[in-house]
Amino acid sequence: MTAEEFIPFNLKSTVKNGEIKWASPSNIALVKYWGKKEHQIPENQSISFTLSDCKTITKLKYEAKTKTTNSFDFQVYLDGERKPDFEPKIEVFFNRIQQYFPFLKTLKFTIETENTFPHSSGIASSASGMSALALCLMSIEKQLNPEITESYFNKKASFIARLGSGSACRSIQGDLVVWGAHNEIENSSDLYGVKYPYQVHDNFKNYQDTILLVDKGEKQVSSTVGHNLMHGHPFAKQRFKQANNNISEIKNILKSGDLKAFIALVESEALTLHAMMMTSMPYFILMKPNTLEIINKIWSFRKATNLNICFTLDAGANVHILYPEKEKEQILEFIKTQLVAYCQNGHYICDTVGLGAKKM
Ligand code: DP6
Repeated sequence: MTAEEFIPFNLKSTVKNGEIKWASPSNIALVKYWGKKEHQIPENQSISFTLSDCKTITKLKYEAKTKTTNSFDFQVYLDGERKPDFEPKIEVFFNRIQQYFPFLKTLKFTIETENTFPHSSGIASSASGMSALALCLMSIEKQLNPEITESYFNKKASFIARLGSGSACRSIQGDLVVWGAHNEIENSSDLYGVKYPYQVHDNFKNYQDTILLVDKGEKQVSSTVGHNLMHGHPFAKQRFKQANNNISEIKNILKSGDLKAFIALVESEALTLHAMMMTSMPYFILMKPNTLEIINKIWSFRKATNLNICFTLDAGANVHILYPEKEKEQILEFIKTQLVAYCQNGHYICDTVGLGAKKM
């Protein structure tokens, strides 16, 4: 599909007022998206596990404007509190998506949002937040055009979410989503995420993700700035090629259930992501001393027990610990007794791979 195909041309009626609510999860990338072109087009393909419990719940209230104006009319609330700070980001988002939703300037919106994970936990809420909002807007489109198929609904929701935040396009469906056109992944696209279409070994069913909150503070360098530093980065070309190869590689791993190969690929991706940050100009480091302590502890524990525990990182200091469901008991025990000490205020969150966003 092309972007133009998401411009609706047959919206017959108009909406008056109402409200819609969606819960949309966060996701954790196995092959990382890092680097983008104009219009939120990724420089490389990525694949992620969709999570279950770390999610944003957004209620979108709307009413017809009495007079049509040439501006957007909306207010944002987080946990019942008005958040004017969030509004410039939504304004940018609305500007990017208005051609795909002709009704945007005809309605007055109230966006009420809450996260199931503690805010300022350092967990990115842009993926869950932008996907939840995209889904609410798609529900309005569906009221105007009830004939749209589920497949179109999901594709366009992902396409719109991407324009809010790249990784958000991977939060619509579950349990594995690929974003970025790849010649070995059928129907994959730079414009939206697609549900991973191939066989997945039982080893990866209900995979566990325990998020260790090492640093809950605001990141010093935003993802958007980080992505931009991949332009002219000395290792960019090689990195994008590596990500492409890793998608082919993970396809074999997901089929065979080879957990050792999975661990090697996932940890290498996480460290490569941070290596790109450390070799950007200007360079920066988002890991903290405790991030490294945790990584080293995981490596020693894995060596001693041969359990299939591994880590991955987002653009921050927190550590995501990934492991198979059947090793849950021993690994959780290890986390509780040996890793919690490295978390800020002892905070961590247990999550499981999930099936995607839900209308409420
Ligand atoms: C490190 O999706 O937050 O988490 O498109 O600028 O909103 P924007 O960036 P964002 O980047 C996330 C990057 C990452 C890796 C990943 O999720 O693939």
